[in-house]
Amino acid sequence: MEVKTIGVIGCGLMGSGIAEVAAKSGFQVLIREQTEQLLTTRMQRIEQSLERAVAKGKLSAADKAAAQANMSGAVGLDDSLAVCDLVIEAVTEDMELKQDIFRSLDGICPASTILASNTSSISVIDLAAATRRPTQVLGMHFFNPVPVMPLLELVRTVQTDDATLDVARAVGERMGKKMIVAKDAPGFVVNRLLIPYLLDGIRVYEQGLASREDIDNGMMMGANHPMGPLTLSDFVGLDTTLFVADVLFEELGETRFKAPTLLRRLVSAGHLGRKSGRGFYEYGSSR
Ligand code: CAA
Ligand code: NAD
Repeated sequence: MEVKTIGVIGCGLMGSGIAEVAAKSGFQVLIREQTEQLLTTRMQRIEQSLERAVAKGKLSAADKAAAQANMSGAVGLDDSLAVCDLVIEAVTEDMELKQDIFRSLDGICPASTILASNTSSISVIDLAAATRRPTQVLGMHFFNPVPVMPLLELVRTVQTDDATLDVARAVGERMGKKMIVAKDAPGFVVNRLLIPYLLDGIRVYEQGLASREDIDNGMMMGANHPMGPLTLSDFVGLDTTLFVADVLFEELGETRFKAPTLLRRLVSAGHLGRKSGRGFYEYGSSR
């Protein structure tokens, strides 16, 4: 099956990046958000990202226009999504919300449509179980920022069939991504390794071992990481980091996955990192 049209449900940090890369790769992209206001802001964010690529000489003005012509946005899930060959869900990391969306998509889309989730940690088989097509459900886990990060982690459940994995792989290749295949186990591969590192960075800060800047600079200059753990947690989103930690701790029970109290308190305070304008650092405005 050749994918021509991709639905992207949820156009936040990740959905906007997935939509942008898909549109630049020549797919027709149908974006869905919760409200008109959010949709407008998100489409503007994609436009800015495309403009930045043109300014840096990475994209021609004609290719920018072509990418924009490939994208359309609307609010809510309706029958217009029935034209999608593949739908990638990228809404907030919340099991019930994602299951509702998979149930709705299963009702809207024809039997041939593949349904994917960009979840960081939720069990993909629990999303597949909300549909009547579990063999055509998989995880397509992109990395932030999607236009820059080379990896796409394909997550195969015990029911995902070979044909579905092959189609997802072909889409990833056309998007220019390098792929790894992971089992549908908590955190898959990358977050199983990355999240305990981020949590340890937060614990080091919580315990007053060093300033936030020195912790981040330590890992940037001492281990050659592009961002230190506190900056990276803000970048990922503290709500997403907390949610993933809670899933890992609940499923694996190891204390290295236990969320530090400081992380939980910051999320309760609405300090979600860059996207809310404040996390471990202050960013002036949300982005
Ligand atoms: N969209 C598009 N392009 C972007 C971008 C964005 N949001 N942010 C940065 N870029 C591009 C810039 O245009 C620039 O391109 P050129 O080199 O071609 O000019 C390049 O990326 C580098 O950007 P900057 O010079 O502005 O900044 P930088 O050197 O500090 O790099 C970064 C920014 C690429 C984000 C880098 O800091 C980095 O790699 N950070 C770590 C990111 C990371 O680990 N992501 C994974 C998070 S975990 C995850 O995603 C999984 C999960 O489930 C939680
Ligand atoms: P985000 O908060 O930036 O965006 C989520 C978007 O979903 C918001 O724009 C919200 O309005 C929208 N949304 C919520 N309910 C919706 C609905 N019913 N219909 C349509 N849109 C709806 O979050 P994000 O960081 O983009 O994360 C999205 C998903 O990607 C999560 O599952 C997360 O775990 C995963 N993920 C995040 C990262 C990261 O670094 N932030 C990396 C990889 C994967």
